[in-house]
Amino acid sequence: MTVEEFKKKFGIIGRSKQINDLVDIVMQVAKSDISILVYGESGVGKEVFARAIHGYSHRSNKPLVSVNCGAIPEGILESELFGHKKGAFTGAIDNRKGYFEIADGGTLFLDEIAEMPLTTQVKLLRVLETKEFMRIGGETVTRVDVRIIAATNKDLQKEVDAKHFRQDLYFRLKAVTLTIPPLRQRREDIPELAYNFLEQYSHTNRIEMPRITREALELLVNYNWPGNIRELKNTVESAAALSKSGVIDESILKTLLNINEEKFPRNLPVALGKKPESLDLEMILGALIEIKKDLVELKNLAYQASSGGNGVSLQSQTNEIKTMKELERDAILNALNKSKWNKKKASRMLAISERTLYRKLKEYGIQ
Ligand SMILES: Nc1ncnc2c1ncn2[C@@H]1O[C@H](COP(=O)(O)OP(=O)(O)OP(=O)(O)O)[C@@H](O)[C@H]1O
Ligand SMILES: [Mg+2]
Repeated sequence: MTVEEFKKKFGIIGRSKQINDLVDIVMQVAKSDISILVYGESGVGKEVFARAIHGYSHRSNKPLVSVNCGAIPEGILESELFGHKKGAFTGAIDNRKGYFEIADGGTLFLDEIAEMPLTTQVKLLRVLETKEFMRIGGETVTRVDVRIIAATNKDLQKEVDAKHFRQDLYFRLKAVTLTIPPLRQRREDIPELAYNFLEQYSHTNRIEMPRITREALELLVNYNWPGNIRELKNTVESAAALSKSGVIDESILKTLLNINEEKFPRNLPVALGKKPESLDLEMILGALIEIKKDLVELKNLAYQASSGGNGVSLQSQTNEIKTMKELERDAILNALNKSKWNKKKASRMLAISERTLYRKLKEYGIQ
């Protein structure tokens, strides 16, 4: 299989050298059983690559089990991973298989591995070394053949230094580390990604594919994308939903991305050495009209801000009533924008736990 065929098969979009080099490495390591650590900022495509590794391995006809270590309450993560015997603890009303057993023969994707509690890390390391474990409360040893792919957006070395992550587990996992570069370091991938997301969105929603103006595309290419591909996808989809007469222009994107740098760009007339009476009256009037426009724009922005808006709330200007769910989704998107897609910060802004935020992201399809 060539790099291009691989990308096509696993839905990996991008033509940058970084992506092609990454795919090259993935194709080399996927077929072995070695553990892989996928590292990259939020939304860069860690899960996409994990799926591709599994899909290209000899395990592809066995399950890929995905576990978000940050989303499962600490207390139950261990029993989720290793299973439990009936009566092992209050609530263990049945014998239960854990993800390791479910993934037997296949791959276990441990997402947000940095969030795994230290005690669970010890057990994970032991399974990696011996391929054996016991269900919680169990007495017999279970053998499994599972390949581990772990992902994180945190610098694990820093986590080790801060004693939040075990060094031995880190060494074991990082033997093969795939670093997925942020989108702003591979801007040449942006147009193709944007067009593909637009195409998918139009197809699913049975609308004609909107056109992106040249300026809008330039803005997409030049924006910094703290939330990476996920943010690009959400932005393009929201823009498609808001676009009038099938055109996505710069202004829609600026509203969606909270880019307000055009608020005060105009030069007021300056009377360079001239006497006031010699000032061009028309010029002053022109400037006043521009200032008025700015004020109207500012009012609109203030209105959006007070209604918790990041542009998705444009609708509230028409007095349309939103459902609680819509409001909640807007609030979450707003917090993600404001926190530059840092989920910990966003959850703090929203006064909910990070785990609850993960659950809601899934519920609202923000992924
Ligand atoms: N190279 C790519 N080509 C096409 N779509 C992509 C690519 N990379 C990511 N995506 C899409 O972007 C979104 C985010 O990707 P993914 O969930 O893999 O990111 P992540 O790194 O796991 O994010 P997080 O750290 O937030 O879990 C998904 O909708 C995914 O399909
Ligand atoms: Mg992920």
